[in-house]
Amino acid sequence: MTKQGDLSGRVILVTGAAKRIGRGIALRLAEEGARVAIHYQRSESEARRTAVECGGAELFRANLESVPEISRMFGEVEARLGRLDGLVNNAARFTRFDPLEITEKDWDFIHSVNLKAVFFCCQNGARLMKKTGGGRIVNLSSLGGIRPWAEHAHYCASKAGVIMLTRALSKAFAPEITVNSVAPGVIPFNEIDERGKKMIEATPARRGGTPAEIADAVVYFLKASNFVTGQTLAIDGGLSQR
Ligand SMILES: NC(=O)c1ccc[n+]([C@@H]2O[C@H](COP(=O)([O-])OP(=O)(O)OC[C@H]3O[C@@H](n4cnc5c(N)ncnc54)[C@H](OP(=O)(O)O)[C@@H]3O)[C@@H](O)[C@H]2O)c1
Repeated sequence: MTKQGDLSGRVILVTGAAKRIGRGIALRLAEEGARVAIHYQRSESEARRTAVECGGAELFRANLESVPEISRMFGEVEARLGRLDGLVNNAARFTRFDPLEITEKDWDFIHSVNLKAVFFCCQNGARLMKKTGGGRIVNLSSLGGIRPWAEHAHYCASKAGVIMLTRALSKAFAPEITVNSVAPGVIPFNEIDERGKKMIEATPARRGGTPAEIADAVVYFLKASNFVTGQTLAIDGGLSQR
């Protein structure tokens, strides 16, 4: 961002923005006056609703498992919006498997979206940002990238990868582009399962978080100067401290 602390008129792409946390981030960015670009894959009706709620945001559909689709999407962003100032890599998958049972396909299902796609979105986004002097990238990692969860070893590895990718790319893309990460703790939506309930009980804040609280952290990094880069901020009610 050239004018530090002001997102108005800035073009910011949010992946997986149709619903849940991504939607919360998109709505918050629209409130800040940003020109939000909403990516989705399957959730078309929800994406359209979010776009309307964002004051008529542009929509971009892509399967992020495919690197050619990622490149096409960034090409469309440039063609339709003319530039890119911010990128929020929010889209991800989450599965549970006993590490003794997980297959190569199960592993690739997670890593293709959670880690490979994040890297190629960062690459495509940074190339576009450099054309107009720079920008801001925020990657959604997870508490699971900081703390080990036995039945989510594959997911934890993908999110720990996002945290290291954030650090390495912050050096690679400096000084014009910053790369930071927000690591959510438990952000519940529907019915909370037993594991979720136990995690909330163990959370010092004694509750789950909200998309708005994640969006606050994303906005902080989008507005910060280039002296803030390579960082991961856990928004987890203190759970990572236990
Ligand atoms: N919720 C939590 O408690 C929590 C905790 C820790 C970390 N996080 C992280 O925070 C972020 C948002 O969490 P969330 O729970 O809101 O995420 P989510 O609902 O599980 O997923 C967000 C979106 O990712 C998109 N997506 C998945 N696979 C895709 C693919 N192959 N191509 C394109 N898009 C794809 C989906 O878009 P469509 O629906 O349009 O297909 C989905 O709506 C994620 O990075 C997640 O890992 C969440």
